[in-house]
Amino acid sequence: MSPVVKVVRPARRLRGTVEPPGDKSISHRAAILNALAQGRAAVDNFLRGADCLATLRCLRLLGVPWRWQGPGSLVVEGVGLDGLSEPPAPLDCRNSGTTVRLLAGVLAGQPFFSVLTGDASLRQRPMGRIAGPLREMGAQVWGRRGGELAPLAVLGRRPLRALEYRLPVASAQVKSCLLLAGLYADGETRLREPGPSRDHTERMLQAMGVEVRAEDGWLSLRSPSSGLRPLSLRVPGDFSAAAFWMVAAAIHPDAEVRLVGVGVNPTRTGLLDALRLMGADIRLSNETTSGGEPVADIAVRSSSLRGIEVDGEMVPRLIDEVPLLALAACFAHGETVVRGARELRVKESDRLRATARELGRLGADIEELDDGLRIRGGIRLQGCRVRSYGDHRLAMMLAVAGLMATGETVIGNAGAVLVSYPEFWGELERLASGS
Ligand code: S3P
Repeated sequence: MSPVVKVVRPARRLRGTVEPPGDKSISHRAAILNALAQGRAAVDNFLRGADCLATLRCLRLLGVPWRWQGPGSLVVEGVGLDGLSEPPAPLDCRNSGTTVRLLAGVLAGQPFFSVLTGDASLRQRPMGRIAGPLREMGAQVWGRRGGELAPLAVLGRRPLRALEYRLPVASAQVKSCLLLAGLYADGETRLREPGPSRDHTERMLQAMGVEVRAEDGWLSLRSPSSGLRPLSLRVPGDFSAAAFWMVAAAIHPDAEVRLVGVGVNPTRTGLLDALRLMGADIRLSNETTSGGEPVADIAVRSSSLRGIEVDGEMVPRLIDEVPLLALAACFAHGETVVRGARELRVKESDRLRATARELGRLGADIEELDDGLRIRGGIRLQGCRVRSYGDHRLAMMLAVAGLMATGETVIGNAGAVLVSYPEFWGELERLASGS
């Protein structure tokens, strides 16, 4: 990732309309699932961020033809469940946990050998959580530290054994990995999560003609006898990208921001609920659906916030937004406590530590807890030099902090935003200039 340094200065006001880029999670799934479908699909508003481009490159190495039909308009020529071929080189997933975990599920069902690797951050992230259950299904999976860390090598098997499995953590990546492996299993795959993680894979599989049943807290799926139908769709705007502007507008004293075409799947909108509980002025309009996903416009204006406590089922619904919630809490009256968020330690960076350290550097009253954060609001932030740890979400959260801090906030390794939001810096300038 490019070692760009960005300087952010306080904005006098924030005004404007933003169309956030295509959803990262849905873009990955649209590429992978359509690759396994029987025939051609057109995917509009596909996110051209580094993570999703990594998925596309891996699919090409697996023999899946795809091409751009225009900016953000992708055509995938699905090869069918049985049509992938052995990759001639390691599959480089770069910084993308979604790529490595979802592809591992697919590769577990292929009668060939493949290697999955990624950048230094990805090679530190836990893979035992997929290696274990995939082995139970009959795939051979090797990796550093007994399969705990990538590079991973997978020798798949077909059919896999159907699995009944309780996920130890709520994780859409693990759930999706096992649902994809379930497409190659000889019976019913049954999964149970401790909490509700994002359900994009289930929705997309359903839209492609695969029955995914949800009953008594269990998800179940069988290999479809007639394969997957290609699904052409427009990818909704990414709620996690819109979230930066939602928080910016809520905490800024002179702000009015409209976000259009944003995915508002309830398994993703925990931050919206949390901000509303804090007293934020957020309005939804133009509610519709796209590709089986709810979409809406979101208007946010300057708000007076109060601290809240966040725990339990809310946490997986705002898992990627905890650093932003911590920033919002710095501008709230009273104390905010987030608990049950230990998963943040194994994201692109240790986001609990990084958030506490970097907001702390800016002067915030923030404490790192074992499984969360405690923030006391009402202290003015002061610009200084901060680090992104090469983590896209950290870089963007710190940039929003910079809009509110006094003086200059200098963000190291700011090029990390290319992972999920290539237009981020341009949008920030535009909103801050009030156009
Ligand atoms: C994602 C799932 C989440 C999230 C990540 C994207 C996905 O990770 O943090 O940014 O696309 O499935 P986990 O499933 O590991 O919680």
